[in-house]
Amino acid sequence: MERVYLEEVDSTNKWAKEHFAELNHMTVVYTYKQTAGRGRLDRRWNYNGSGNIYASIVIKREGEMKEIYSNLTQYLSVVISKVLEEYDVIPAIKWPNDIKVCGGKIAGILAEAIIGERETGIILGFGINLNCSKVDMDKIDKPAASLNLITGMEIDKEYFFQRVLDKFCLGYDKFIGEGFKSIREEYKKRAEFLNRSVTVKVFDKSVNGIAKDVTENGALMIVDNNGIEQILYMGDIV
Ligand code: BTN
Repeated sequence: MERVYLEEVDSTNKWAKEHFAELNHMTVVYTYKQTAGRGRLDRRWNYNGSGNIYASIVIKREGEMKEIYSNLTQYLSVVISKVLEEYDVIPAIKWPNDIKVCGGKIAGILAEAIIGERETGIILGFGINLNCSKVDMDKIDKPAASLNLITGMEIDKEYFFQRVLDKFCLGYDKFIGEGFKSIREEYKKRAEFLNRSVTVKVFDKSVNGIAKDVTENGALMIVDNNGIEQILYMGDIV
């Protein structure tokens, strides 16, 4: 994978979007100092130190985007989970693509579509908390986790990052060829929300129910409080 390293940047996703035309397919733009990172649901993704990873993978397609591209965030969540497991921690995926360890969010993924006149594509952004201080973690308004605090050792961010990129590339062609079903079991194995009561936010609406399954397309199947089965293609478990 081609790399573009930025000493400091407001947001790797924003930078990659602005430079999309000049970047090749499968280039990763990354930094260890992101000052105005963007998250899902209008959240922010920032940290003062320089021990974490902030990266955006540029995926390009000529012509139409296949539906499978929207599942790339789930593919990446499995990839990151597998690398975390190499550190003897047990990651849990929250549909569609949050990763938690010990109840706190350790990694977040934000995909942004690019629909240009000449090219279409996806900016697949991700941030992983590898080396945060306990004091800073405690200041975050939602439960958060950092790998150093769980393992008790400083994490080699370059090595971790390379493991993620290697794994991502290794399974990429198979995933694009076969779709979500090729990772469905790997995903479900880590899906802590299954058979639990969940609230899913879909834009400004909420759906409550029991999460029953993740379909062959990566959608969430829930049985709502009226006993009706619903298949959700977008939204966030809150
Ligand atoms: C989430 O809210 O869970 C998604 C967070 C995604 C953060 C990453 S960090 C690198 C990339 N650049 C951004 O501005 N956001 C993503």
